[in-house]
Amino acid sequence: MADLQGRLLLALKEKNIVNSEDLARELQEDHQKIVGAIKSLQTHYGIINAEPINKTRWQLSDEGEVVAKYGSHEARVYNAVPQQGITREELLKSVPQYGEIGFSKAMQEKWIEINNQKVYRKIDRIDDKIQSMLKKVQTGNINDLSDEQKTECKKRKLINEGKMTVYKVSKGEMFTLDIERLETELTPEMIANGTWRDKKFKSYDMDALGIPPDAGHLHPLLKVRTEYRQIFLEMGFTEMPTNNFIESSFWNFDALFQPQQHPARDAHDTFFISEPHDANINMIPKDYLQRVKKVHSEGGYGSQGYKYDWKIEDSTKNILRTHTTAVSARMLYKLAQEKDFKPVKYFSIDRVFRNETTDSTHLAEFHQIEGLVADRGLTLGNLMGVINEFFKKLGLTKLRFKPTYNPYTEPSMEIFSFHDGLKKWVEVGNSGVFRPEMLLPMGLPEDVSVIAWGLSLERPTMIKYKIQDIRTLIGPRVDLQMVYNNPLCRVEKAAI
Ligand code: PHE
Repeated sequence: MADLQGRLLLALKEKNIVNSEDLARELQEDHQKIVGAIKSLQTHYGIINAEPINKTRWQLSDEGEVVAKYGSHEARVYNAVPQQGITREELLKSVPQYGEIGFSKAMQEKWIEINNQKVYRKIDRIDDKIQSMLKKVQTGNINDLSDEQKTECKKRKLINEGKMTVYKVSKGEMFTLDIERLETELTPEMIANGTWRDKKFKSYDMDALGIPPDAGHLHPLLKVRTEYRQIFLEMGFTEMPTNNFIESSFWNFDALFQPQQHPARDAHDTFFISEPHDANINMIPKDYLQRVKKVHSEGGYGSQGYKYDWKIEDSTKNILRTHTTAVSARMLYKLAQEKDFKPVKYFSIDRVFRNETTDSTHLAEFHQIEGLVADRGLTLGNLMGVINEFFKKLGLTKLRFKPTYNPYTEPSMEIFSFHDGLKKWVEVGNSGVFRPEMLLPMGLPEDVSVIAWGLSLERPTMIKYKIQDIRTLIGPRVDLQMVYNNPLCRVEKAAI
């Protein structure tokens, strides 16, 4: 047992309650060392109770520490004056930094004098009061100083006011003078020779912060993206290729049965590309394009369509994709071209763009998470089932569905989850069954249904990492230190 811990316990045995500051004075020890001993005693269950009390107190400045150790500036100047005298210039050279001030103070004190251009000691012995004052401050006895003395130390910036935590220590329910040394590590030797059986081990501090590794760190969005990707992969989904931010209006809107006069297709909501303004029309399969045109303008497949003049010029306009459902449309078209239909489960997580006014919850770009299942005879029940399963893996079990409208799904449902922290229902996604007007022109068999859902990556990331303003998560205002400061991984119950 470390000696200081023993002395502390002895003091406690006599007095029942001790204050760390008083104890430092009594034991003539540095206060920090006493605090260290208290902290290590606290790791032994029930030996002591320690209650922290925040205080301000006068303490030595850095310069004050030097003076307390080596003497005041004037004393050091005095000590540098040899018996036979020295020129002022030589003297100042031998005591750099504090020479000027020390010289004038020593003159004031009449410790030295100048004769024939030389400096001599005027008295044989000096009493370095400044040093003894600072030694008192150092041992916590500042009250022994008179008010003038305190003012002088303050004026010379040898002491300053600092914060400190003192501890009120009392006996714990298991108080003893005889504490055992606790092992911090279980070594291979202890296991081999069996001595671990008789040893007591220090318990783990689960609240201790780890040492951050000195390496690159992933942005929170990438960490949460990995978690979502993992869930999809566990559920047997395949990732869709999302490597095109620029998309034609055709795949982003028309293929999804979104009419050309829909407000979302306006420049207020969507970013249009000026150069190249249009997608290459030959990249869109001709017969499919005709079927899409027909279903919009005349209807078909049991639908009346929208009955408007569908224009090819509107559908070739290049835009920054507004949702990853454009990718789903491309993938479903591709699937429909295969000879025999095979059920698929697809997902994607990538960036989308919308012409939004930015504020604390909106940016002009964000990440969308999207999942879809294509199979014969799927129903709304399957959609709710797969969504329940997906969100359960995130730790969200209380879900509610609310009917909504999307041009490309019918029925459509917003997904809400009860947030235990916020104590309210929050919207966590949007979903639906893709319309026949979208799927049949692609050439998918009539009995194939496609269920799908989408959510943003930013919202759950902000909740998980307690980020209030989206602009501090992504974009030019981001403080890169945020990336470093956030935990490498989180241990949590409910995950959104
Ligand atoms: N595309 C929708 C959105 O942008 C999300 C969604 C995906 C809805 C799939 C239904 C089906 O919000």
